[in-house]
Amino acid sequence: MSIEPIKWLGDKLRLLDQTRLPGEEIYIELSDHQGIASAITELKIRGAPAIGIAGAYGVALGAQKINSKAKDEFLEKLRDVSKTLTTTRPTAKNLFWAIERMQKVARTGKDAEEIKELLIAEAKKIHAEEVESSRKLSQLGSELIWDGSSILTHCNTGALATSGYGTALGAIKWAKEQGKKIKVYVTETRPLLQGARLTCWELKKANITSVLITDSMAGYLMSQKKIDCVIVGADRIALNGDIANKVGTYSLAVLAKEHGIPFYVAAPTTTVDPNLSSGDQIPIEQRSPDEVTHIQGIAIAPEGFEALNYAFDVTPHQLISAIITERGIIREPYGEGLKEVC
Ligand code: MRU
Repeated sequence: MSIEPIKWLGDKLRLLDQTRLPGEEIYIELSDHQGIASAITELKIRGAPAIGIAGAYGVALGAQKINSKAKDEFLEKLRDVSKTLTTTRPTAKNLFWAIERMQKVARTGKDAEEIKELLIAEAKKIHAEEVESSRKLSQLGSELIWDGSSILTHCNTGALATSGYGTALGAIKWAKEQGKKIKVYVTETRPLLQGARLTCWELKKANITSVLITDSMAGYLMSQKKIDCVIVGADRIALNGDIANKVGTYSLAVLAKEHGIPFYVAAPTTTVDPNLSSGDQIPIEQRSPDEVTHIQGIAIAPEGFEALNYAFDVTPHQLISAIITERGIIREPYGEGLKEVC
């Protein structure tokens, strides 16, 4: 069954509200950029490629509401629209990449009316390209997954996170479609449980043998030789191959190294940040401590207790066995390979 988390309806955007999954499949329709910005902040739409696509549609929708006829004034107002969208989530490069591309296209329009049309066409193009990239990298990534293997994955990197096949989960789904007998271990992914809520939902739909584990079980499973490889996505990749991904990814990479297990990262080239030479320059989102002290609104810590909520962490390239992109599988030295594919 195909999943369509992002759908352009001609004059508005339809999103599958991921905060309601797996209990309810609720779609929301948004007709302005403020609504899209809130949906991104609140994780109704999430996952690096998906928020890039939603951001692009957000710019297109914001442009339709600008009344200025003069091009300069129009572009100035469009910059405000873009700012609202980029101040939602700081880590995923795809969001900034998509919005920069929309701004660039806007500058080529001769007047306000033409810019409005160009922006809708460009958002649809970005959407289609990201779907195609995720298909290609899933196919390439599946080559690294052996028949009979057990794979550990973290967070959600499937259709929900990409609007296409997926990245890490895309490779897993492709391997299954090739007839490989695989088993997937899914980390629940505290604090917002993208693994338990979203990845398990997708794996169930895809009919793939899978088991949910708590994040802290990964080391024991590896020590018991139950995991053959780890495959995760990325939110931003620096030019030396360091990656930022959902918090907990770094710990999994260290554990994988200790146990001699390959650790793969799958992401489209739109996740690569050509301006950053290493991972320590990647902005890491910090979210509300309430997400740690509460689970779905229910307090699990004493009231007022201090909590930290880093949403991502950085995994250094030395711990990564390969980075899978739609343009090829890259291994050390990552600097050369990443420059080539970008
Ligand atoms: O906070 P989220 O749910 O947006 O985090 C998502 C992830 O960390 C994914 O692993 C990443 O975006 C890659 S998705 C293809």
